[in-house]
Amino acid sequence: MKLKGTLALSILPILFSFQAQAFTVGVVMPTQIEPRWYREGFGVEQQLKNNGFNVELFFSGDIDVSLQQRQIKRLSDDSNIDALVIGSIDGNALKEALSVAKSKKLPVISYDRLITGTDAVTYYATFDNGKVGQIQGQFLIDKLHPTVDDPKNIEIFYGSLDDKNDLFFYEEAMQILKPYIDSGALVVKSGKISPNETNVPGWRTDLASKRMDEILDTVGYGANGGVKLDGILSPADCLSDGIIFTLKKKGYTPSNIPVITGQDATAEALQNVKEGYQAMTIYKSRDDLHDAVIDMVRSISSGKKANINDTTTYNNGVKDMDSFPCTPELIDRSNLAKLL
Ligand code: BGC
Repeated sequence: MKLKGTLALSILPILFSFQAQAFTVGVVMPTQIEPRWYREGFGVEQQLKNNGFNVELFFSGDIDVSLQQRQIKRLSDDSNIDALVIGSIDGNALKEALSVAKSKKLPVISYDRLITGTDAVTYYATFDNGKVGQIQGQFLIDKLHPTVDDPKNIEIFYGSLDDKNDLFFYEEAMQILKPYIDSGALVVKSGKISPNETNVPGWRTDLASKRMDEILDTVGYGANGGVKLDGILSPADCLSDGIIFTLKKKGYTPSNIPVITGQDATAEALQNVKEGYQAMTIYKSRDDLHDAVIDMVRSISSGKKANINDTTTYNNGVKDMDSFPCTPELIDRSNLAKLL
């Protein structure tokens, strides 16, 4: 009897690990070109494996929406797949691709970016995207001190129109900046303020660079002489990198470069902050995001409810999402050292 009990006890962990091993997660990331997503894909894969899950990882080429749709369909059709984790490219383009997942009741976690227009999504793991925009907008005000008597010139960049995250960044940043623009304390000389006028398709660094070039020319901003450009609201480091590339080329140096914001704390951005080309970035802890995802996957695999902390902020057009937004953190020269 005693022997049987001992045997049962010793088999138990094997059974549990067998159970965990048998649960396979299909992970699809939007691109392998942008450093953030490349690292993120392998990071989440590793964390899931460390927690005993099997992983099938795919990158959707270089932001290739139709490839992503095919990857999702293939994974949904695969009987070995028990859940999907998707970092979307165009959050609104996956309804059809997710129809199989929906009919099979395959749980889907929307990763960082919100998948919209479908109720096939179970959970949303992200960062507090509104807070990101608030931090960026407030940073510009704190650095520029714009007043009606001493107005400052800024330009605005928006990311990809198909990524709903940026609406949160933009709207919250504009909550802070718009009163100054309305009063004339902040001036956008290009006249381009709305997402439709300021977006950079696919969040592409080269297109951000090109747009910066065009703005410099049209307005007549100049590093030495010309109109002074005081600040740039850039939502993410991948754009800031392109903007800085152009500004450097046009003779801007750390002593006369506008105050430029960013987000992601990429290696390039940290270097730019260190050298004084970029004023700030935002650190979004991968560990925090991955912990939230692991908790969701674990809950799904054991039939429990995940530990979510927000059910009202993120509506995907069909339902309010059960979400876990992690906390973003401002990084500038004063606290840069902790990430280097
Ligand atoms: C993410 C940002 C990222 C941007 C470009 C957004 O959806 O939230 O962290 O910089 O996409 O990839």
